[in-house]
Amino acid sequence: MKTDTTDTTTGARSDTLSASARNGKELFEDHDCQSCHPIDGEKQLAPPISGLFGSERELEDGSTVIADEGYIKESIQYPGAKVVMGFNNNMPSFRDLMTGRELQEVTDYIKALR
Ligand code: HEC
Repeated sequence: MKTDTTDTTTGARSDTLSASARNGKELFEDHDCQSCHPIDGEKQLAPPISGLFGSERELEDGSTVIADEGYIKESIQYPGAKVVMGFNNNMPSFRDLMTGRELQEVTDYIKALR
């Protein structure tokens, strides 16, 4: 029997994700991040998550920043610290909702979505 491991909700092939990133994918879904963030495609309430890692982000204050690991973690813990140009600062903080390990796993998932 042919099995297709492509996950159509995220476009990410779960068999290519590391164990940490796979846990991060579940956390992303459990915390409903996708209710605001599309994985791919057009921006909705929030920027798409694919291709974020390593890209240059333009911020509300006119400055730019490279979306490295530190930026991604900061965005999840302190969403108001750097607000992406064209978006409202309406993301809730997940600082108290995730352990440090979970934060790393979600970050590893986002990093894997190139
Ligand atoms: C209520 C809607 C909402 C939810 C839920 C939400 N976010 Fe966000 N997020 C936003 C908005 C709006 C922005 C852009 C404004 C800003 O930078 O704060 C953003 C920005 C980000 C950024 C920076 C994106 C960029 O393009 O530079 C990351 C990373 C991120 N969110 C991760 C997450 C993760 C992980 C979760 C789930 C644990 C999550 N978000 C849940 C609304 C949301």
